Amino acid sequence: MRVLGIETSCDETGVALYDTQRGLLADALHSQIAMHAEYGGVVPELASRDHTRRLLPLIDNVLEQASMGRQQLDAIAYTAGPGLVGALMVGASTAHGMARALGIPVLGVHHMEGHLLAPMLENEPPDFPFVALLVSGGHTQLVRVDGIGRYQLLGESVDDAAGEAFDKAAKMLGLDYPGGPRVAALAEHGDPGRMRFPRPMTDRPGLDFSFSGLKTHTLTTIRELDGRGQLDDQARADVARAFEEAVADTLAIKCRRALEQTGLARLVVAGGVSANVRLRARLEEAASKRGARVYYPRGRFCTDNGAMIAYAGAQRLLAGEQDEVGQMKAVPRWPMDQLHAPDKP
Ligand code: KG4
Ligand code: ZN
Repeated sequence: MRVLGIETSCDETGVALYDTQRGLLADALHSQIAMHAEYGGVVPELASRDHTRRLLPLIDNVLEQASMGRQQLDAIAYTAGPGLVGALMVGASTAHGMARALGIPVLGVHHMEGHLLAPMLENEPPDFPFVALLVSGGHTQLVRVDGIGRYQLLGESVDDAAGEAFDKAAKMLGLDYPGGPRVAALAEHGDPGRMRFPRPMTDRPGLDFSFSGLKTHTLTTIRELDGRGQLDDQARADVARAFEEAVADTLAIKCRRALEQTGLARLVVAGGVSANVRLRARLEEAASKRGARVYYPRGRFCTDNGAMIAYAGAQRLLAGEQDEVGQMKAVPRWPMDQLHAPDKP
């Protein structure tokens, strides 16, 4: 089955073509980062308009890469949520319109299920069951995964998501949006021994996270340095380093705990923050202490992309799931524990 995947939930337009027999045939992405950078964050209306502009050319591009025509598509999967409602509607309406014209099935996919399954596109995909750490701009969750749609939430952030904390720390340090990669780059020049930031909620049992205290600590530290006239480039790099170490360590401590609690030996890490090199190093250390292995998507499939949506959609379409004709879905808030396993294996 050849499935076209469409992702438009936030600030990247992603399209890909996944063949359930041959694997990923093509993928293409347009990032809106440069457009939103001027405003320091995603402007929803601009995002929707840009998806409208980019989506059809990207679909043509992907079909061209695979030397295929639209008629050769067997199904279409699109991100139905969670995300920005206007942005989601661009993907949903395009997918439904195309599917109607071609007379093929179409299915709305959960964005985080896409992230969760992205490592399945790699050469050595993890077997079920595994523990998944989902770390993106909007989510920080630990999930036990027993199969497609068989997800048990083990813990999540009670306030900011890890990516959001990175983005806010970046703003405090005067860095551009999106902050994660920029904080990481600045942290490279930081002295790891100069400051130690708190590892929130690691001193008590449980698998929930909280990053708002760390955010406040970061702001207070920056203000104090500034007040003493010491906020030079080196100090900013040291703050970035201390912040990054604290987030990576906190996530690694909780992952290790989740592996202990479940007795599982596979850890999947996905979502934008999984691109962070220091986080990966900490997770490898934590997992190796338990004899566990860590699985990631390749770099460009850590952040939003069409391939993960094509893959996740294909698994459910294969099992016979599809949207009702004309019932396009755009669900801004959609807890992942509302998902079910596909009816047929
Ligand atoms: O998964 P994603 O592309 O979009 C959402 O679904 O939210 O994640 C975007 C988030 C942003 O907060 C961004 O700052 C963060 O991932 N991010 C990173 C890195 N690359 C992206 N955070 C830390 N280090 C990175 N290298
Ligand atoms: Zn995402």
